[in-house]
Parts: sequence; structure tokens; C-alpha cells
Amino acid sequence: MAKWLDNAVFYEIYPQSFKDTNSDGIGDFGGIREKLDYIKELGCNAVWMNPCFESPFGDAGYDVSDYYKTAPRYGTNDELKELMDEIHDRGMHILLDLVPGHTSVSHQWFLESMKAERNAYTDRYVWTDSIWEEPEGPGSLRGISDRDGSCLVSFFSHQPALNYGYYRPEKPWQQAMDAPGPRAAVEELKNIMRFWLNVGCDGFRVDMAHSLVKGDKDGTGTILLWQEIRAFLDEEFPEAVMVSEWGEPDKALAGGFHMDFLLHFGPSHYNDLFRCEEPYFSGRGKGDVSEFVRTYQENYKKTEGKGLICIPSGNHDMARLARGIHGDELKVAFAFLLSMPGAPFIYYGDEIGMRYVEGLTSVEGGYDRTGSRSPMQWDGSLNAGFSLAGREKLYVPLDPSADRPTVEGQAADPDSLYHEVKDLIALRQAHPALGNRGGIEFIYAEKDAYPFAYVRSAEGEKILVILNPSHEPASLACEYSLEKALKTFGGEAAAGDGRVTVPGGFYGFYRA
Ligand code: GLC
Ligand code: CA
Repeated sequence: MAKWLDNAVFYEIYPQSFKDTNSDGIGDFGGIREKLDYIKELGCNAVWMNPCFESPFGDAGYDVSDYYKTAPRYGTNDELKELMDEIHDRGMHILLDLVPGHTSVSHQWFLESMKAERNAYTDRYVWTDSIWEEPEGPGSLRGISDRDGSCLVSFFSHQPALNYGYYRPEKPWQQAMDAPGPRAAVEELKNIMRFWLNVGCDGFRVDMAHSLVKGDKDGTGTILLWQEIRAFLDEEFPEAVMVSEWGEPDKALAGGFHMDFLLHFGPSHYNDLFRCEEPYFSGRGKGDVSEFVRTYQENYKKTEGKGLICIPSGNHDMARLARGIHGDELKVAFAFLLSMPGAPFIYYGDEIGMRYVEGLTSVEGGYDRTGSRSPMQWDGSLNAGFSLAGREKLYVPLDPSADRPTVEGQAADPDSLYHEVKDLIALRQAHPALGNRGGIEFIYAEKDAYPFAYVRSAEGEKILVILNPSHEPASLACEYSLEKALKTFGGEAAAGDGRVTVPGGFYGFYRA
């Protein structure tokens, strides 16, 4: 299995907003190439790039119209290959974004599937057998085809669901997982993966990985499907890495994924930390990390030794980290994100505290996600160095604030978030105990209380981490000596009588 995952730190690139090199206002492969050294310098050694395939962009590329061809606005297949080569030349790795659950309405398969006459794509999507019957699910496409039936959608109403079958078919039109239509969909999925793995990607982030088999409440059928994919990869591409958008690591890992995300949806309590009224990692927090830790521990037990639970700083679907957490609070949040087991994922711009841009009109199906998708802020030049296009041509408007953070500004300031993140990644990489596969024991994670403390361990090394995101001093009973500090922020801890007191807005790493 891919050894590089043991110390992978990922950087998520939203290609349309990262760096534009041909002045059309949209980021491109060339721009990513230009900035690879920046990513490497930060300490990230792996990239997840959001979908870059041909698409009408009704959902920013999560509505693919040709899985085998890159969208011209980013560059050609050959240019993507060159980008992959440059990534590998730097000892880095890249995951592409695979969207297996649905296509765009303009995909040729769907156009065929809408026809009244039977053809090779009739059963490629989930259709009822009468326009008057709607499938259960997020909605359906109806009355737009000669074919009599309603087609299930998987997310937006222009994203028809590919047919991987029903776990237990109940209606005549519901097909079993082993029926010819679903089998053809699985084989096509393997072909798509084969194609891009042969071009040179290192694996995939899989969109809505939990959702493929229908009528499958517990995920049993979907797990079986992914196990088949895993077996195919083991046979043909044993090094291929898979990370799922699932949000239930025990299920995803049972399906053969190496890693699963904790997300803003699902049972993880991830939002308690960063994205709610009073997030734990803000000074306004009332301090409840306990539910998060309880579910984390359950997941950890179920998945220990099998794969990684990934806690992202954010992604293209949720509000920016800096929307609810400000200033030095972000440093404490990153101390947490970069000291947990699993592979860290940093959403582009979070390392400089890029803000959520409020009040934007939706772009390409972004809706309230659009504010998290604004152009990367590189420097003080035109359009923050993102693009030389006229302002009105930029993919999403820039953060208009005069004090918007930039890479240039933060690189020049030794006290910036950028430097903190960089130092925290370096610390993680220097200590096996802090690494992706090291163990964790929570020593203080109480209901309605600060601080938060845990011990990471690996290869005989133990590191105590104490985080106090609140603005008040806090203390805990602690048997560890704090004599060997590896890194602290926000003051010093005081120890005595078996208790440790730390200042507000503090974090510390100690050899234990
Ligand atoms: C995932 C993607 C999101 C997209 C949706 C439909 O949640 O991350 O951006 O809109 O799936 O593909
Ligand atoms: Ca461009």
C-alpha cells in the first residue's frame, strides 16, 4: 500500500480559483504548476484537486459531461499530465476528484438514456417506468424525455443518478446490483479510474462515495461495490490511494478506502469545533468538545490500524474556517488540525486565513458556498496576483476588504498564520508521534470546559498537546511533566501539585 500516505499532508486546490495564467479570469493547470513550489514550501506533499473534467459547470464541475477529457478552461489532458509529472518531480502526489454518482444532463450517456428506443445507455441511470411515478430520493428529472419515466437525481436537479442498482429491489423498475445496467456502470467506473491512473494520478477523492447503491440505508450494498473497486485496484494499481466523501469512516474503510473525511454533515460533531454559533475553537466558545471526542474515539477504535480519519481545515462546500474563528484563534485551531492522527487537509487559502466573502451572487451552483471559493490572494498586485484579467472577468469576486490577507504579506511577517501553519507542519513531519498513523489518548476533553489535551504516540515517542482556544486561563489535572516543550504559543504553562494551568489562546507541545 502507498507508503507516502504515512506522512501525507494534503492541500486542496479549487482549480478555478487558484491561479490564472492566460488572463481569462479562471485558474488553470498552468497556474497550479507555477505555484507547486509554494505548496511544497508550506510543507504539503500531496494535492487534492477538485473536478477538472469537461462540464457545463452547473455545479462547478461536479456535473461531468466527459470523464475522459479535461475542461478546456483548465488545459488539455496533456497539460494535466505535465502537471502530474511536475508534482511527482517534487516528490509530491496528486488525487483527482472522481464523481461516480451522477453526470451532467448534457452527458452523451444521459442523452442516449432519455431516448424512447432501448440502447446501450437505457439502464445507465436510475429511471422509473412511468412518468407518473417518482423515485424516492432527492428529486427526479421528469417530462424532458421521450422516454416514459422519471429519472432519479443525486444532488441538484441537473445531476441524474447513475445506476448502481438497489440493494433490495422492490419495484419492477428497481434493478439489482448484479443486473446488466448496474454492472455496466461499475465497469465504466473502473475504466475511468484506469484511464487517469494510467495518465499518472496517484488516486482519487471520491465525491458522495456513500450514495451509490440505492435503497441501502446502512450502506451495505455501497460497501460491497467499493470492495469490488478496491479488489480491482489491488490487482491493477495497488498503489492507488482512495479518500471518500462519506463522513462515516468505519463504513468507508470497510469499503476499502484508505481515508475518510469528517465533514460538516454526518454524525461527527465536526461543526461543534469550527462551524456553529459558539465554536469550540473560538473565544466565544462555551467549550463543548466532548461529543466530538466521543464520536471520534468510537470511529478511531473501529478504524485503528485500518485507515485514516481526516479532519479538513475546510473545503469548497463549507464556510471558510476564518468565518467563525479569528486572529490568533486560527493558530490554535491549526495546532489541533495539524496534531491529530489521519492525514491533514488544508483548503487553499486557509493557511493565510482567507475569509468567507459575504453576500456574493451564486457562481456555477455555488450558492452560499461561493463565498468560500474566491480567488487565492497571492500578493498586493492586480487582483491579488490571481489573474491579469479585468476585475469583472474573475471567476468569483475577490475578498474586497482592504486588509485581506495575502501570501506575500504573511510570508514577510514572522508572526503570521502562514508561518504558524508552516512551523506546525514541520513539527508534525519531524515527530513520528505526531504523524498520520500515530496513536492518540485523550487526557482532558470535558463537557463545557477548557482546555483540551491529548497524548500522541508512535515508535516509543510520546507528545502531550494542550490547547486552550478560550480567552481565559484554564487548568487540568495532569501527571506529565512539561519540562521538555517542543513548541508553545500564547504564553507559558504553569505546573504544580499535579495540575497544569495554561493561559487563554494558548497551545503547547511537550515531550511526554
Ligand atoms: C459533493 C461535492 C459538492 C457537490 C456535490 C454533488 O458534496 O463536494 O461540491 O456539489 O457533491 O456532486
Ligand atoms: Ca485561465
